[in-house]
Amino acid sequence: MTPLEKKAIEVLNKNWKGNFSIPCENLYPFQWFWDSGLIAIGFAHFDMSKAEKEIFTLLDAQWDNGFIPHIVFHSETDSYFPGADFHHSSLHPQASKKYKTTGITQPPVTGFVLEELYRISSDKEATLNFIKTVIDKVYFNHEYFYNNRDPKDEGLIYIYHNWESGTDNSPIWDDIWETMNPPEYTFERRDTTHVDASQRPSKREYDHYLHIIEIAKEHNYNDQKIAELSPFLVQDPLFNALLIKSNESLIKLYHLIENNEEKIKQLHNWQSKAIHSFNTKLFDEEIGAYIHYDLRNEKPLKYLSSSSFSPLFAGIPNKQRATSMIKLMLDKFGGDHQYLCASFDPTSDRFNPKKYWRGPVWINLNWMLYRGVSEYEYEDVAERIKKDSIEIIEKNGFYEYFDSRKEIHEKENAGYGGNNFSWSAALLIDLIRS
Ligand code: DGY
Repeated sequence: MTPLEKKAIEVLNKNWKGNFSIPCENLYPFQWFWDSGLIAIGFAHFDMSKAEKEIFTLLDAQWDNGFIPHIVFHSETDSYFPGADFHHSSLHPQASKKYKTTGITQPPVTGFVLEELYRISSDKEATLNFIKTVIDKVYFNHEYFYNNRDPKDEGLIYIYHNWESGTDNSPIWDDIWETMNPPEYTFERRDTTHVDASQRPSKREYDHYLHIIEIAKEHNYNDQKIAELSPFLVQDPLFNALLIKSNESLIKLYHLIENNEEKIKQLHNWQSKAIHSFNTKLFDEEIGAYIHYDLRNEKPLKYLSSSSFSPLFAGIPNKQRATSMIKLMLDKFGGDHQYLCASFDPTSDRFNPKKYWRGPVWINLNWMLYRGVSEYEYEDVAERIKKDSIEIIEKNGFYEYFDSRKEIHEKENAGYGGNNFSWSAALLIDLIRS
């Protein structure tokens, strides 16, 4: 085992809290939905029981309507804002009675994570037995999405908050903020006491974030009301690609488990509609990749980001389209002076390589792109993404995100946000071992 892998294991064990993991100390002191899934992939390589507990605990916080919240507040710490009292999830009649949670969700990674656990496992029978105990909860979550988050029956799910996208302060949301004028709230940020403010969203951005949640709370997080009233209603390519990827994994796993014909049939129905709409509605010919769609204002959001390439991970584009997307990624994001893959178009004037999702490289997206590009058999590009990911961690440590400009890594620390960040450690282990 390399020293870097050893250090990654230490990071994961340190962030392990008995039956779930935190993304990192202080900045993110609870359990986060998509973090949790990706962390389980890392644990699966050296401690399957922790991987299983991680997923079990996450799914234990599922609401009675199938919804899985983006944060499960396991403790009372006040190092994070906005906490459980602000989110007030119990306003929803079907919210978890056991845990305090948020009333927003995050990208649905759990389906493909279960398949990853099975792939990595050295005791397939035991892992499949675990999967049997939780897989219906994941299916129920997908059913929640298709029944409640697809008002036009397109097979494309909307998100109603930027925190649901996972790409929290992407410049894409600037267009939505221009349509809103929220009050100036008074509140105490906690993130900027742990991390330099230049690497985090602005106060005015937070006003927007809080305002959307206030509207949802006024209506007890009722999905129909949110669809009617939320100023933020977006079909996001990353979110939908991960749902499609997870559908595919559920189909494969249900086949292994046997006797689940009805669910497999339903999953195939969701898939064919979703993939068709994805390829027709979310692909932008002019840009040459997938983009977001603003469902509230009925307009495409014509920006290139790392999310634009994420459909490669779910096998959504055909080979020809995939080939031109990979070329675009290399041309715009992959010059000799750049690490792959910046989170936002480096040629845009909205690009900021230091600020959260406005430009830095993220290991989770890199891991998805690595896997996607390999599936389309561009092994040299896949190797480049893997090498870049390992190199930026080696140079800086297990940070949350990294500067995409190589020259910065020569001069100073180019890792930003939280340090000893769980998914950077987890996916590094998987990249090295796969
Ligand atoms: C934050 O507080 O920035 C979180 O990422 C929201 O999920």
